[in-house]
Amino acid sequence: MAIILGIESSCDESAAALIGSDRTVLAHRLAGQEEAHKPYGGVVPEIAARAHVQVLTPLIEAALEDAGLTLDDVDAIAATAGPGLIGGVMVGLVTAKALAMAAGKPLIAVNHLEGHALSPRLADASLEFPYLLLLVSGGHCQILRVDGVGQYRRLATTIDDAAGEAFDKTAKILGLGYPGGPRVEALAKTGDPKAVPLPRPLLGSAEPHFSFAGLKSAVLRAAQSGAHRPEDIAAGFQAAVVDCLVDRLERALSVSSGSTSPEFPSPSTPPVGVAQDELQPLAEVEGRDRKGLSQGPSTSLGTNGGGMVCPSEPKPKTLVVAGGVAANGAIRTALEALAARHDMGFVAPPLWLCTDNAAMIGWAGAERFALGLTDPLDIAARPRWPLDPAAEAARGAGVKA
Ligand code: KG4
Ligand code: ZN
Repeated sequence: MAIILGIESSCDESAAALIGSDRTVLAHRLAGQEEAHKPYGGVVPEIAARAHVQVLTPLIEAALEDAGLTLDDVDAIAATAGPGLIGGVMVGLVTAKALAMAAGKPLIAVNHLEGHALSPRLADASLEFPYLLLLVSGGHCQILRVDGVGQYRRLATTIDDAAGEAFDKTAKILGLGYPGGPRVEALAKTGDPKAVPLPRPLLGSAEPHFSFAGLKSAVLRAAQSGAHRPEDIAAGFQAAVVDCLVDRLERALSVSSGSTSPEFPSPSTPPVGVAQDELQPLAEVEGRDRKGLSQGPSTSLGTNGGGMVCPSEPKPKTLVVAGGVAANGAIRTALEALAARHDMGFVAPPLWLCTDNAAMIGWAGAERFALGLTDPLDIAARPRWPLDPAAEAARGAGVKA
């Protein structure tokens, strides 16, 4: 069994984990930064990076101690190399490089999104490729066809806000504080989802994408009107998000692309390497209220129509959800029902594995290590790093992937 040390530092969670290639979580430690960012209502990159510097090394030492291991017992060191807040990403990656060099171990530069995308396979040994993935986090809202490690075809993305971002902004509007997702979910439980009429952007649209900006504005207007109870707004908002996610997935499941567009690689595309991806100038911008990141106007999304399968490709048998928003109970329940309607299996990781953590980075490292995919010590940290560079190439700068 190979043992991988995983390190995560791309946003506001510092984390270290030791993962066995047999899916054993030998140890996982996490330090959030909620208190440090609270006064600002969102993540401040400089504060985040400084906090990672302070806690990452002690976290790694504690994880090794929990597992009863030393660095000598580790087979490879995997760290998030992007996308994310560049200061924090650099702290984690440089730490991993130093440890790899000192201990003579291979380094694995993990795409944080790949960490989320493969995390369901850590939790469920029976989950096989290909699967249809809804990746919903603070910075992303995408539907991806996952054909293997490094083999992702993006079928849909958000044209404005990410789903988690919409939860966080709704929480802010309702005065619930940060991070918003769990607080909106808790408040929604006591509200009436039908009491406040809220829009469902792009519902039923022929195009494959998501949009949440209009919903957020409607939440703001509803709150400012003073005519509604906060719990009803929260419940109405969550119900609208659920409807949008289900509708867009229904569309992805029903459309067959008919052909492989040049903008979309075939599933035999080799694993995405960092060097190859460096060639993509028009990459994603991590979303959320992250200060210091520009978000320009959206342009063409360059999709193939969001079709899930080409006639020659096997149809995914499993619907999978991952990312922080996948921790939402109402969303999990709705997706499970959707999968059942389509005669598909459904996999959602346990809640602790949905939000940012180092176990998913260690697991993505284990999957890559098993394929011989390691990286040189001079590899660069990347603030932007799309999972499907071919989809990204046709996009406008400043649009979230
Ligand atoms: O994956 P994640 O931890 O970080 C990113 O990579 O962005 O996702 C964080 C996002 C936040 O926007 C947070 O509000 C949202 O996930 N989130 C939730 C829930 N728990 C976390 N959204 C809705 N319901 C939840 N229970
Ligand atoms: Zn994440």
